[in-house]
Amino acid sequence: MIIQTVAQSRLGEKDFNELPFGSVYADHMLVADYENNSWQAPKIVPFARMEMSPSLSALNYGQAIFEGMKAYVNDNGEAITFRMNENYERMNRSAIRMCMPEIPEHIFVDGLKALLQLDNKWIPRQENAALYIRPILFATDEAVGVKPSDNYRFCIMTCQIASYFKEPLKVLIEPEFIRSAQGGVGFAKAAGNYASAMYPTKLAQERGFHQIIWTDAAEHKYLEESGAMNLMLVINNVVITPSLSDSKLAGVTRMSLLHIARTWNMQVEERLVSIEELIAAHTNNTLQEVFGVGTAANIAAIKMFHYNGVDYELPAITENSFQIKGGGYLNQIKQGKTTDVFNWNTTIPVK
Ligand code: COI
Repeated sequence: MIIQTVAQSRLGEKDFNELPFGSVYADHMLVADYENNSWQAPKIVPFARMEMSPSLSALNYGQAIFEGMKAYVNDNGEAITFRMNENYERMNRSAIRMCMPEIPEHIFVDGLKALLQLDNKWIPRQENAALYIRPILFATDEAVGVKPSDNYRFCIMTCQIASYFKEPLKVLIEPEFIRSAQGGVGFAKAAGNYASAMYPTKLAQERGFHQIIWTDAAEHKYLEESGAMNLMLVINNVVITPSLSDSKLAGVTRMSLLHIARTWNMQVEERLVSIEELIAAHTNNTLQEVFGVGTAANIAAIKMFHYNGVDYELPAITENSFQIKGGGYLNQIKQGKTTDVFNWNTTIPVK
């Protein structure tokens, strides 16, 4: 692989704790172009702006997808990433749905390993911090005719992050707008899914909520996900989460936490979860926990949900809460602080 390194590292120039999420980028990025019906050799180059035409297909018609992962270092200073293959496969499922070329494994996986090896020192060593990995794929034809682009660019950038959410969340169960519908692209990590969520989220934030819990497009009756994360509940010691469908993202944190719960012999249910059931469980005091799960969000405690004019406060989280025990264990694995019994991590040796 061609590797062009920076003349001078920018490491340490900014305190990422003080900055908005995802605004301190590491020195290098991986770039691979798709041209003439084939993938060209990937390169690692200094992180920099890219020149583009206003007619760029991705800008005009939104053929753009992405992924989100995190890297930590273990006690030997080696980079570790979590379930890299799940993100790789999901990126290609998104690519197929958005009529884009699939990315070969050697570009995504080997490219990411090489990038993390090169920028190992950018992986934060502090507690609650990580190097966030953002692979993107976008259409690069310079033509405003509506058709799938012939040319694409795949890029992996990384950035230092602290916590995504700073406090337990107040969420609005959305009764009007939708994130996605059956037959749509909700299961894909399409950039437009996030764009369309912004206006309803802004309205919710103006009312004092941090996030929206989306409901199904047909009836606004069932809980979907939160856009930046999947949703999990504990009712009567049963871990419950909305079942996957083509309108929800198959989160890697979601599937990992469910696996931990099953390994611990907890009852787990992946099924439709109605707002009515949620409120009934709150009313009869069987609702123990509601929380979000996602790569960036990690395990995001929810302290209150709002529906139809009523605020529903959630019980206080304790050290026995599943989000603390299960989420804590998951984080220990991800950060290389306990044995990786499920063989989820990839370790990238120091150069
Ligand atoms: C992630 O969790 O990695 C995501 O891509 C969510 C994004 C809204 C930050």
